[in-house]
This record gives sequence, structure tokens and C-alpha cells, in this order.
Amino acid sequence: MGEVDPAFIQATEHRPTLNTIQVEGIPLIDLSVSDTRGLNQLVSEIGNACKKWGFFQVINHGVPLELCTRIKEAAKTFFDQPLEEKRKVKRDEVNAMGYHDSEHTKNVRDWKEVFDFLLKDPTFVPASHDPEDKEIRSLTNQWPENPPEFRKVCQEYAREVAKLGYKLLELISLSLGLPANRLSGYFKDHTGMLRLNYYPPCPFPDLALGVGRHKDASALTVLSQDDVGGLQVKRKSDGEWIPVKPIPNAFIINVGDTVQVWSNELYESVEHRVVVNSERERFSVPFFFFPCHSVMVKPLEELVNEQNPAKYKEYSFGKFFVARNRSDYKKLEVENIQI
Ligand code: SIN
Ligand code: FE2
Repeated sequence: MGEVDPAFIQATEHRPTLNTIQVEGIPLIDLSVSDTRGLNQLVSEIGNACKKWGFFQVINHGVPLELCTRIKEAAKTFFDQPLEEKRKVKRDEVNAMGYHDSEHTKNVRDWKEVFDFLLKDPTFVPASHDPEDKEIRSLTNQWPENPPEFRKVCQEYAREVAKLGYKLLELISLSLGLPANRLSGYFKDHTGMLRLNYYPPCPFPDLALGVGRHKDASALTVLSQDDVGGLQVKRKSDGEWIPVKPIPNAFIINVGDTVQVWSNELYESVEHRVVVNSERERFSVPFFFFPCHSVMVKPLEELVNEQNPAKYKEYSFGKFFVARNRSDYKKLEVENIQI
């Protein structure tokens, strides 16, 4: 084994403790409604999970299983290709979407490769921005030639997962005591980003992370993981890192920064990270469900009053998104728009 590349090494306090014993996990919620378990009960389970964990898993979600299998196969075939092939669609100073093999989180290199694309409404127009700003990169998708079905599978999958995103958004609105469609208008002509993650086996899993600790900027994230495991969630009650158990055919849902702001922190965007292992490669597919770029995000009026004043200033989602995609985005977190 050669030298360990220092770019991957986490500071001592952020290194993973391997072999943690799991006593309690994030809740598992069945999205099907029946006579014995009505909508109210489902809504209250979702609300409790958002408050306590900011994370939960769902089954009976309506996304066709066959599509989940196909996207994982397409991802495996794509990432199995030689580096030169993958780099034909690489992300760079000009293109914000595509393949990337040196992602950094909080300035430490992640042990993974990614492929990103945007699911766009045909009417999607990127946020207006200063044309002089050279750091703004194109949000146009780049598609590889191989595997040939890659683009089609990715787009079909993203559309189905976006439907689940809308369903969850309604349930979350209800759980905040709001009408089911209270938030849907913010997603008209929205875009979402789908990411394929590939974590190769890592020879020093005690020093590096697949993804360093972070929060998601989305409204919600809808994640599918394989059976290897590695995602850990920071438990709100005591800051312990709790592993998320792989459950076949389930999706992992988490509250992102945007819902934290809308709910004026009734629901919080929770830190998470990914540990790697020396034996098995791992794949995961997060869908980041964003409002449309023209939306001005601020705490919802219904959830703000004299006793509970707004904790955030209003900001443009598009500007926030574009700024996070700039080279200096690591500094931009929702904390910076707190009042
Ligand atoms: C992420 O949070 O960015 C990745 C999650 C995962 O791979 O499980
Ligand atoms: Fe994440």
C-alpha cells in the first residue's frame, strides 16, 4: 500500500469511529394509507420524524422498483469505465454538471466519484445573474455516450423520484398544520438535481470519509442507497453519529435547509456524512428537490408571530443555489442568512 494522500485525511475529531453499535435508528414510515392507519396518523409520524431526526426512511413510496434497479446498473456501468472515458463529461470551470472525481467537503477531499444532472422543466430559466461574473458556470447537462441507455434511465428515474418529492412535500405541509398544497407553488417550473455517487473501497477508512459532514441546501432530499451502508446521521439529542441501516427498496428522506427556513426551524436540516470501507464499493443516488430559482425563501407567515419571530432574512433561492455552485460555495451555508 502506498502513501496515504493527505488531501483525504480528516482532522482527528472528524474521523469515523468504525464498528459503532446501533441502538436506535431513524424512523421507518410506510407511506400507504389504509382504514386502520389513516392520513392523520401518517402525517403525525412524518412530523415527529422531521422534528426528532430531520431524517426518516419510507416504503410503499410508489417509485417503480424496476427503475431503481436500472439506475443502479447504469451507474455501475458508467463508473466502471476508464477515467479518460468518464472525464469526457467532466465538471469544470465552465460546466457545473457532469462527472467529478475530486469533490471536497469542508476542504477535505471525499473518497468518491459523482455524476450530476438537473431535471429541468422545459420552461426552466436559470436565475438572473451578473453576466460579468466569470465564476458562474453553465447549468446545462452533459451526457456520456456510454452506457447508451444512461440518459434515458437517469431522466425517467428523476421524474419518478420528483413525484415522490411532491408527495412528501404535501405530507410535510400538513404536518406543519398548513394546507397540503401550501408549498407546491414554489416548485412550479422547479428543477431538481440528481446525483449518482460511487464510493470505491478505501484502504484507509479510519482516516477518510466518503462525504464529510454537511447539510443539504435542498427543500428535501430523496436518497436511495444500496445494501453496503455507510450513511451516518448526527443525532440531534446528543450529537452521536448514528448509522442508517440499508433497507431493501426504501428511500431515505431528509429535511434540507429550505424547509428549515420555511418552518422557521420547527424542522431542522441535520448534519450527515458517509463512512467508507476497505472491502466493498458502494453506490447511492440522492435527488435534491429544490424550489424554482425565482422563489424568495423566508419563514412562512403562518408559522411566525410575536413570540416566534422570523429567524431568517428573505433570500433568492436561485442566487443561493448559483452561489453555492461557485468555487467559494463551501463558505455559503444557510446559517449566513440568519437574522
Ligand atoms: C450525501 O449526503 O451527499 C450522500 C449520502 C449517501 O451517499 O448516502
Ligand atoms: Fe447530503
